[in-house]
Amino acid sequence: MELKDKKVLITGASGGIGLEAAKLMAAKNYAVTLVARSENKLNEAKAILHGNNHSVLAADLNNSKDLVRLSEHIKSERYDVLINNAGAGMYGEFINMPLQEQINGMHLNMDALVTLSYAFLQNAKKGDSLVNVASLLGHSSFPGAAVYAGTKSFVANFSESLWFEFKNKGIYVMGFNPGATKSDFHSNAGKETNSYPEFVLSTAYDVAQDLITGLERKSKPRVISGWKNRLMLFNFKFLSRAMAIKIMGQISPGMK
Ligand SMILES: NC(=O)c1ccc[n+]([C@@H]2O[C@H](COP(=O)([O-])OP(=O)(O)OC[C@H]3O[C@@H](n4cnc5c(N)ncnc54)[C@H](OP(=O)(O)O)[C@@H]3O)[C@@H](O)[C@H]2O)c1
Repeated sequence: MELKDKKVLITGASGGIGLEAAKLMAAKNYAVTLVARSENKLNEAKAILHGNNHSVLAADLNNSKDLVRLSEHIKSERYDVLINNAGAGMYGEFINMPLQEQINGMHLNMDALVTLSYAFLQNAKKGDSLVNVASLLGHSSFPGAAVYAGTKSFVANFSESLWFEFKNKGIYVMGFNPGATKSDFHSNAGKETNSYPEFVLSTAYDVAQDLITGLERKSKPRVISGWKNRLMLFNFKFLSRAMAIKIMGQISPGMK
């Protein structure tokens, strides 16, 4: 696929995986629209991208007016690629965390992603691509972040179903699944990145590289980032469900 003079909108592009994906897409001559809540961070991010045809759009995807505004923008601007990357989690035992904050996480990770996918796919044409960022946890359980893992199972399942619905139209839908990644995600969720052993952590740059590679190949419904994460999922097939959940519970920062 020739990646030139095309337009991509990336949510959650002010930092972490989204920002690294924005840098890589800009380097491939995409005009990038960066979306997140913090306009300052978005402008700083835009300033470091290759090229000068990029734009920012400050929006809180948990705010219904912002979500409608962004959906309308996606419909009218007609992007070639949408990367639904914005997401948040919360570490802790389900019953010990405020219900409303967990429901807000469900809204951001699922409802907003579905709404933006709908806006994008309504006008999508042959050759366009939708990437939804799920998680390795979308394919396993994760005590200590039960609601978050549930939202990511939804994103993975939803995206893989869409992959089939759209493939004969020449529109590629990818469920993209990072494992534990060094970013602000963990401190925002209430724990530090170093709650995980160093060897399981990926950099946001490496994860974004895998995302772009999957996007260029346009083949798989499900892309798991990183060989260690692929190996882990493969090995889990040979364990009982109870054993797999116990292992995840033991390594979960939310259970410590
Ligand atoms: N880090 C990991 O270990 C990991 C593993 C698997 C999957 N993931 C997934 O990968 C994606 C990116 O995560 P990351 O690690 O890059 O996290 P991050 O560094 O915390 O970045 C999250 C991005 O989402 C934006 N965001 C958060 N809440 C928002 C809201 N309500 N409205 C609009 N934008 C919002 C943030 O910007 P503002 O704060 O300015 O809004 C930021 O740009 C997420 O979907 C996450 O679930 C992460």
